[in-house]
Amino acid sequence: MITGIEAFKGINISGIGNFRGITINNGGHSSGGHRVSIIKKHGGKYKQVPYINEYIKEIAEENRCHTFIELTGGGGRNILNLPMFEMDGDIYEFGRKIYNEYDRGLCNLFNCVKDPIKVQQLRTLLLKLGRDEELYRYAIDNKSKEDIPELLSAAFTYMAAMLSWSGNCQKESYLRGKTDEDSKKIEKEYFRKIKKLTKNSSSLRDIEIINGDYKPLLKKYGADPKVVKYIDPPYHPITRNQAALDIYDLEWKREDHQKLVRELLECRSWILSGYDPLVWSCEDYLPLEKAGAKKINLGVFMSGTNSTKTRKFDKEEYLWIMK
Ligand SMILES: C[S@@+](CC[C@H](N)C(=O)[O-])C[C@H]1O[C@@H](n2cnc3c(N)ncnc32)[C@H](O)[C@@H]1O
Repeated sequence: MITGIEAFKGINISGIGNFRGITINNGGHSSGGHRVSIIKKHGGKYKQVPYINEYIKEIAEENRCHTFIELTGGGGRNILNLPMFEMDGDIYEFGRKIYNEYDRGLCNLFNCVKDPIKVQQLRTLLLKLGRDEELYRYAIDNKSKEDIPELLSAAFTYMAAMLSWSGNCQKESYLRGKTDEDSKKIEKEYFRKIKKLTKNSSSLRDIEIINGDYKPLLKKYGADPKVVKYIDPPYHPITRNQAALDIYDLEWKREDHQKLVRELLECRSWILSGYDPLVWSCEDYLPLEKAGAKKINLGVFMSGTNSTKTRKFDKEEYLWIMK
């Protein structure tokens, strides 16, 4: 959708440069700058957003895209921070945005944050539930279960992510703090973020939330060049610590990645995020490059809880892009 520039006159939106006296924000091409984030997410792409946005923008410009789909949504950092840019003298934005995620708890959380009344209820509930390790462990086991009501499932999902190290939702990763002072800091920060949830409600206003497998959406919109598809699947197992496989929710096996590659070969206007299996001598993603997908090495992202620097070696983040 192209939005008339006149609507923005007189408004100062900070960021990518000056356009007819108006400064426009695309999230900035640096690791700094403010980005919307609702929860921490293991494998999340918070730091990478500005770089990925450059390529989303390229595809959108070239194919005149009207829709953006985040197929394996997670913390939804991309869809929450999509670029705004100039095209044909107007400010360009996607007319339709879809967040798709298999996990019921994450969808319940996003649906509650999106709704101005439910987000208030969620905030009150989280403040009441407090920070408690036993409840945290219970939340991990129950957050996505079908028989848990939406609001409670949203609260459990929030708790499991925000009270675990790096948002990995693992029982042994509860953020306790080494000292009393650390523990107080963690608690203060947790409640500060809960109080901020209502502010994030408007960022989700025009995002459709779908709770399901990515495959039907990719089948429906994959070949349409006017629909940008972004997919950041669970890590390829070859790139993972081999002593700790199958510990996260919804892990993918090698065959799941091979299937995705076969599906992407039939599609256009897509971006795939991840580590490159080829670094581990596995050729599973190679057919994408052979079919003309551009492979971009984004390098190592070191700061923050989602650091890709490991004791053994630095894992580099990649994108595969097909216009
Ligand atoms: C690496 S995370 C995405 C992180 C996200 N890019 C962010 O910045 O927060 C992968 C997500 O894919 C979801 N997922 C796994 N299998 C899926 C499937 N078949 N369809 C849709 N989502 C799936 C997982 O639940 C997880 O939230």
